[in-house]
Amino acid sequence: MSNSVVPSSSSGGAPSSGVPPSYMPMALNMRLTGEDEQEVTLTGTLRPFVAEEMAQVRTSLEQAAKTAKGTLCVNLKRLKYMNNVAFLELNRFVRWVARTRPDLRIKFILSSVIPWAIRKFQVIAELYPAVSIEVYDKAFYPVQPVIEDDEFITVLRTQEKLIWAHEQEILPQHGLRPGLRVADICCGLGDFAILLQRDFRPEYLVGVDHSKPLLRYARQVVSDFGLENIEYQYGDAAALLLADNSFDFVSCRLSLQVFPEPDRIVHELVRITRPGGRVYITNEMLSSVVGYPQQEAIRKGYERFLEVCRHGGVDLDMGPKAREVLANGGLEDVKISQINVTNTNSDAHDLARVVELWIRVAWQFGAAAGANPEMHKDIETGLRAHIDTILSDRGYAVWPIIAASGRKPFRTT
Ligand SMILES: C[S@@+](CC[C@H](N)C(=O)[O-])C[C@H]1O[C@@H](n2cnc3c(N)ncnc32)[C@H](O)[C@@H]1O
Repeated sequence: MSNSVVPSSSSGGAPSSGVPPSYMPMALNMRLTGEDEQEVTLTGTLRPFVAEEMAQVRTSLEQAAKTAKGTLCVNLKRLKYMNNVAFLELNRFVRWVARTRPDLRIKFILSSVIPWAIRKFQVIAELYPAVSIEVYDKAFYPVQPVIEDDEFITVLRTQEKLIWAHEQEILPQHGLRPGLRVADICCGLGDFAILLQRDFRPEYLVGVDHSKPLLRYARQVVSDFGLENIEYQYGDAAALLLADNSFDFVSCRLSLQVFPEPDRIVHELVRITRPGGRVYITNEMLSSVVGYPQQEAIRKGYERFLEVCRHGGVDLDMGPKAREVLANGGLEDVKISQINVTNTNSDAHDLARVVELWIRVAWQFGAAAGANPEMHKDIETGLRAHIDTILSDRGYAVWPIIAASGRKPFRTT
């Protein structure tokens, strides 16, 4: 049953303090979601300058809490933005409920689009036993803590250095040329955007990521080096705020593999690409890592590594699926290239360093996936054997990456 109890409201009227109203488009609805559960959903932007601007929201929430039975879910997952003034008001609302309706449970439903809020609501949940939180897209982005770890930042940088030497040669085959409007989705540290700017001179270039620490880093690099024409935006790859049909070339590198639902992301990449433009993706293919000698230990190590990562929701063998993923997205003229980073065509010490860091990543994933010690041992033995191979004068090692692109058709069926 879905019942609109509290009418939609649009806040932003002059607060009593005389402070000018902020732009706070907001809607609030209440519906029954179960016998003993009701849900109040807030959508839009909660960006009050002062607490008084939240008066209407507070009143509506209190009304809902007065009539609710069992659990009142306060659904914040569709909020695009919330500031600390709004958070403190929601905190006051919780205190008010604890005082006036001690029998009522409150569940905040959050999304990782506002990551700081998750940590703050966790504190509220610890303080008030009747309060719980649910992060609805937690399963969707399970690896984010690993990605934002300092160690991983070094992996990203070294990987980029290794890959770019080969990738810059294949990019023109995938339709990249100077003067295009380019979007790099899941841009991470922003190194790819910087290299694109240097070597391909796009007309406009935007990088989007949902990691605030990585974006901070990317913006710092742009400002330290006085680079122009690169914009970094905070955003969710599954719901981009970029307009339809607005880019000639949309890239998403080494990232589809971190999403359990890559088709959903491709749908967004295709949406923002103009008809005739291209979507370009790269993904790893760790089942085809080569290392000689010690092939057997290396093969077993990567097999286990893949297993552990799959448990964590990451598919590091996504490369061969690229053609299917792009075709599912309705793209045509799909082109595939294989980039082979080897210990003979690249800096062997950099490659060894990347593998060394993967061992740590594997430990983090393994711990999260509850991997047994045997598995850890196989991974460590295999990846160390790969490092030996990479650094040996007679060994041969390959790290394969699949780059693929497809063209958005002019007409959609
Ligand atoms: C493995 S990194 C790859 C980064 C970069 N493209 C590169 O090649 O180095 C994956 C990136 O995806 C970002 N990411 C993960 N989920 C995202 C989401 N829902 N929206 C936007 N970015 C996301 C992470 O923050 C991270 O920067």
